[in-house]
Amino acid sequence: MTHAIEMTEYGSADVLHLREVATPVPGAGEVLVRMHAVGVNFIDIYRRQGIYPVPLPHIPGNEGAGEVVALGDGVTSVSIGDRVAFCEANNAYADNVVVAAHAALPLPENMDIDVAAALPLQGITAHYLVNSTFALRPGHTALIHAGAGGVGLLLIQLAKRLGARVITTVSTPEKEALARGAGADHVIGYDNFDTAVRELTEGEGVDVVYDGVSKTTFDRSLASLRVRGMLVLFGAASGPVDPFDLQRLNWGGSLYVTRPSLGHYLLTDEERAWRWSDLTSAVLDGSLNVRVGHVYPLSQAAQAHEDLAARRTTGKLLLKP
Ligand SMILES: NC(=O)c1ccc[n+]([C@@H]2O[C@H](COP(=O)([O-])OP(=O)(O)OC[C@H]3O[C@@H](n4cnc5c(N)ncnc54)[C@H](OP(=O)(O)O)[C@@H]3O)[C@@H](O)[C@H]2O)c1
Repeated sequence: MTHAIEMTEYGSADVLHLREVATPVPGAGEVLVRMHAVGVNFIDIYRRQGIYPVPLPHIPGNEGAGEVVALGDGVTSVSIGDRVAFCEANNAYADNVVVAAHAALPLPENMDIDVAAALPLQGITAHYLVNSTFALRPGHTALIHAGAGGVGLLLIQLAKRLGARVITTVSTPEKEALARGAGADHVIGYDNFDTAVRELTEGEGVDVVYDGVSKTTFDRSLASLRVRGMLVLFGAASGPVDPFDLQRLNWGGSLYVTRPSLGHYLLTDEERAWRWSDLTSAVLDGSLNVRVGHVYPLSQAAQAHEDLAARRTTGKLLLKP
């Protein structure tokens, strides 16, 4: 049997319950991973709330790291005993998780397994945002919202590595210190942040806004852009944006808006291997710091959700089976 967090209805965090379920069996092309740590992500909250509908009952979670303990038919790329991480599985809030072999990310020998569990989903997201959605280069200025969050701390570091100037928003002095530590050039609050951005850019605006906050930031994010700038709306921590008039993009300065998703930036094994090896190399050479801000027992998944939704967290949240 396997311990797992299961929900049978949508709702607040108290719909998440620890249960005993049958240990899943890997099918052809899949492996079974005994989990060392499970990653908590904001998308788990959207699914729990029913904003992104899922079939019920539902075991949340896409991410984590552990040891391969069984192989399905035809698997040759992974062996029993391998340490792997992943961010494309389902039902990851559990002791044992089935993962497609092609999505099992290899761990370098000297990589800490908690860091490996914390990195895939938020790390690959930050990687595709700054390298592929809007490819940063020296001379660019980026506004990154929620700079002390899981994605935010990684985004700041990767943006600085590419030579961009970074402005970031945070809500508390503790978060400000973390964002500065990650390399942000300017850390500001959310109140009238578009005005602050204009002041910091001599009235011009930024080349790109990476916005995972959405409802409460959307219009001011548009107002922070330079002519022909791009708003990369990659999440909705404060809720989905209201419908808006496309003419807003015209009078804002021929602006662009895109709404990217992780799966569309992991289209091939080559793309997955590129992003993962780039990230793990940066961790191992010390140029990328992964902050595990909070560790909870698996049984306290509900508390982890409440803390993340209430803006009480920084960096990554992990669950330990
Ligand atoms: N599209 C993709 O491929 C993809 C992949 C991964 C994550 N995401 C998105 O990236 C965003 C960040 O995810 P994460 O897991 O790293 O979370 P996180 O940034 O660690 O946590 C969310 C942060 O958003 C800020 N925030 C502002 N207003 C908020 C509100 N009303 N409620 C809650 N938080 C608010 C808070 O920081 P302050 O207190 O400093 O404001 C909070 O700590 C989420 O929107 C998520 O959906 C998207």
